Amino acid sequence: MNAYIAGTGSYFPPGLLTNQMLENMVDTSDEWIYQRTGIRTRHIAGDMSVLDLAEQAAKNALEQAGHPNCDMIAVSTCTPDMFYPSVACRLGARLGIDNAFCFDLSGACTGFIQAIEVAGNAIQTGSAKTALVVAAEKLSSGVDYTDRNTCILFGDAAGAFVMSGGGSEHVKASYMASRNQDWACLYADIGGHMVMNGRDVYKFAVDVMPEAMGKVLERAGKTIEQVRWIIPHQANIRIIKAAAQRFNLPDEKLVVTLDKTGNTSSATIPCIVDEMHREGKLQPGDLILLVAFGAGLTYGAVLYEW
Ligand code: UT7
Repeated sequence: MNAYIAGTGSYFPPGLLTNQMLENMVDTSDEWIYQRTGIRTRHIAGDMSVLDLAEQAAKNALEQAGHPNCDMIAVSTCTPDMFYPSVACRLGARLGIDNAFCFDLSGACTGFIQAIEVAGNAIQTGSAKTALVVAAEKLSSGVDYTDRNTCILFGDAAGAFVMSGGGSEHVKASYMASRNQDWACLYADIGGHMVMNGRDVYKFAVDVMPEAMGKVLERAGKTIEQVRWIIPHQANIRIIKAAAQRFNLPDEKLVVTLDKTGNTSSATIPCIVDEMHREGKLQPGDLILLVAFGAGLTYGAVLYEW
């Protein structure tokens, strides 16, 4: 049974944190942030929990999919509200979904594409029929707002897919990998704040994004020219442009949204897909290449035919 995306959803909390607001919090400037990262503003969840964010995005996706019964709930998050139970179990309770296989996945910014890989495989082998796959991130709870190296980068959001079985083959290929020796470039201790060596993460990202894109195209037997949209993880506009340059990608194929969201970790990719889907930008037959990297250090790509 082939897996396809039956519905998409996203949610951004209403609170905003602009570069100008950050100028009053740390020694930085709108000019530095925009030039070095491409970010202008981000959404901040405030009192909303990760579960609240997940619920909103999941409801949007379920509504679009026509409220199917879900027998799997997978949640990607690196900022869970509780050690246990999983966000997925509590999301099931909120949504009235019982008896599903529920789990959280900690793949950091790569977590959503890891989750669709797991859900897609479960559908293909028949162990699940319909999966609710969510990424919910409240990075504002995990960064130190006195550390200008990290606090300017991140925002809060949630995105979701409903994945069902049937029809033609939509997931053309995937490639998941990690460089575990380098995990200390980006981490947060239990109860602690994010610690990041930005330059090392930058170098890693510029190296592995093209690698993952190349591998997934090779596995699918496709060329970059056949791809309609490249949807990269949104961490830094310079990382995205550097990866694009290696493939000579024209700007019109490259989706960039980070100016208005910042880096929302694993929620980034489903939020973009949802926005494009609702705006009618994704047409049947379009090949979309999802590519991400993050703490772990993890990275990966999925080539999907809409
Ligand atoms: O999802 C994955 C999560 N993380 C990432 O993707 C991060 C990847 N890394 C990056 O995006 C970039 O490395 C950063 C945006 C974090 C930093 O940009 P950079 O061009 O690598 O700057 P840098 O760390 O080399 O710092 C250059 C200068 C330093 O000053 P000195 O030593 O040259 O005097 C920093 O102290 O910029 C300074 N700096 C700042 N200045 C103003 C660092 N942060 C700021 C700031 N405002 N917010």
